[in-house]
Amino acid sequence: MDVELSSLRLEAVHRRAAAALVVLVAEGFEAGKDALSALIERALASGDLRHKPGSLLASYGVAGVKAERVLLASVQGGQPAAVRKAVAAATSSLRAGPAEAVVFCFAQEPQPGAVQAATLAAAEAAYVYLTTRGKSRAEAQPRLARAVIAVPRAAAVQAEFEQARATALGVEYAREWANRPANHATPTLLAGAAQDLARLRRVQCTVRGPREMARLGMGAFLAVAQGSAEEPRFIELRYNGAAKGTAPIVLVGKGVTFDTGGISLKPPAEMDEMKFDMSGAASVLGVFRALAELQPALNVVGLIAASENMPGGRAVKPGDVVTSMSGQTIEILNTDAEGRLVLCDALAYAERLKPRAVVDIATLTGACVIALGSVRSGMFASSDALAEALLAAGEQALDPCWRMPLDDEYAEGLKSNFADVANVAGRPAGAVTAAKFLQRFAGAFDWAHLDIAGTAWKGGKEKGATGRPVGLLLRYLLGQVPTPAPARRAKPAPARG
Ligand code: BES
Ligand code: MN
Ligand code: ZN
Repeated sequence: MDVELSSLRLEAVHRRAAAALVVLVAEGFEAGKDALSALIERALASGDLRHKPGSLLASYGVAGVKAERVLLASVQGGQPAAVRKAVAAATSSLRAGPAEAVVFCFAQEPQPGAVQAATLAAAEAAYVYLTTRGKSRAEAQPRLARAVIAVPRAAAVQAEFEQARATALGVEYAREWANRPANHATPTLLAGAAQDLARLRRVQCTVRGPREMARLGMGAFLAVAQGSAEEPRFIELRYNGAAKGTAPIVLVGKGVTFDTGGISLKPPAEMDEMKFDMSGAASVLGVFRALAELQPALNVVGLIAASENMPGGRAVKPGDVVTSMSGQTIEILNTDAEGRLVLCDALAYAERLKPRAVVDIATLTGACVIALGSVRSGMFASSDALAEALLAAGEQALDPCWRMPLDDEYAEGLKSNFADVANVAGRPAGAVTAAKFLQRFAGAFDWAHLDIAGTAWKGGKEKGATGRPVGLLLRYLLGQVPTPAPARRAKPAPARG
């Protein structure tokens, strides 16, 4: 969806032609003398519009209003979360209709974050997956293609809007790649998507295949890949927005393009959803799409460990011991705990980049879904400052996470009689023991791990990728841009006399 920002006061918006106009009304609304003010006042007085989440009132052909359809939507106190709900509700109600362009008008001055919320919600509700729809593609095609966000003073929210627009592009890119079926999103195709991004300004991409990975000593990653006919790819994206020597922030994405469990085969129910097991990788692609748009003064490296996890005659077996790039040997007791195996080698590689911080993003454990559901991503961090920054970024982006513990006692169960470490512990605290495994490979830098198993996609009727945590990651990264030192003021001229 194309979104633009425009300065337009409520008093003037009735003169604007539009297929659909959504007026966002907050508590404390003060009516002017215009046609829309009159409509809002009546609707509030009658109780047809209430300040309740998602409350909408649709009218058609309103006297004195040029727009064909008018939707009044309550945003309660005007908080970003309420704005998001209102815009999502309005967009889905319009999506089925014939309107192609919609104007979202803030009746009052928006709160900080409200324009971001509106922009993201409009783009989110307008996205429809089409790539493999075949003959049903035409019916699925949404008509809603353009949105205007109207505020009293556009200049005041221009920067917020630009960030949100870029985030929406990144979220859409991540959703699209995560949604594609595993046979349309193989490791090789993911590498192609990364190479496409390298056509954008300041973005570079290097792709390594199994021979180069073997040369690097990535024995854990290769063990996961060896059961598949599809070759793995180790993808390195770079965004160079700062001086050459500036230490990069590294994002590491789990890119298991399909997770059958391997020889420790998963049960059949909902196994199709394991095509989403590359959502961490997709979020890295999405972040780079947005970085290219925003061009911040940062160096960022994106590492994607892309592989299938398949059973087969060559597949790794429970009990096999492999040597990781770090030199640590790993006893693979359960081949379904493959995410940590591909990630541990990518983390060892990250150490070479002398990073400022490393954040890995992975649909790592079913246990995290049990712990936190689909509301918050699990967040583990070796540094309090990094944890605080990620927590705050999640709140601001409406893409929240929650910090989980890393006490050493949780690593007890990873002990092995046959290797330095086992790849699984018992059932208790499965999300934590997985993080403890990863932490062994992230000793040399500030590190955080986001377990997005519960947040990266929705199941059931609404099955599809969410694009999380692109919003969180981008917010975090933009918060790391050094603020320019305040311009030094010229010394005041000495008083004469
Ligand atoms: N990709 C899965 C995690 C997952 C499962 C995400 C269900 C979302 C929904 C991961 O590779 C996996 O299989 N983890 C195992 C670990 C276990 C064997 C220790 C799990 O969570 O069951
Ligand atoms: Mn698995
Ligand atoms: Zn997996």
